[in-house]
Amino acid sequence: MYLWIKALHVVSIISWMAGLLYLPRLFVYHSDAELKSIQSETFKVMEKRLAHAIMTPAMVMSWISGLFIAIHSGFYSENWFKIKFILAIFMTVFHFYLLNLQTKFNFDNNRHSNRFYRLINEIPTVLMLLIVGLVILKP
Ligand code: HEM
Repeated sequence: MYLWIKALHVVSIISWMAGLLYLPRLFVYHSDAELKSIQSETFKVMEKRLAHAIMTPAMVMSWISGLFIAIHSGFYSENWFKIKFILAIFMTVFHFYLLNLQTKFNFDNNRHSNRFYRLINEIPTVLMLLIVGLVILKP
């Protein structure tokens, strides 16, 4: 049972990360599309589905499975886990920030350039490298 939950954790993280890395990419292209154009309307549908049908359920499953493993294994008292926990909170804050941007795009209310979205695209990459490093090396 424990190992199945761990497998679920890895699968959820893969799905969550796919969205966290790809949604800002869609914003890069969307910010260049003309308002009300077919491209812009297509991006809206893609962003909405990615955010609400994939990313949010994957984020919820990542938290449920991760907390279950942490409590069951006793890892919650170890320092590497405490740092991972804080980084996972940052990842979650970034998730909600992306949802906020997605709503703005949906109402044709984007205020940022494509350069901004290229830059924020690096945030989940850096967090992911740190988290995976912590979980594997357990320093
Ligand atoms: C959302 C809150 C999260 C919690 C509470 C959590 C908790 C945990 C715990 C307790 C483990 C078990 C470590 C072990 O058995 O060695 C684990 C494994 C793992 N987590 Fe998370 N995690 C969370 C989010 C994340 C995120 C955001 C990532 C990656 C970006 C991630 C990637 C991994 C990986 C790669 C493993 C290794 C599985 C293994 O081989 O044992 N986790 N997580």
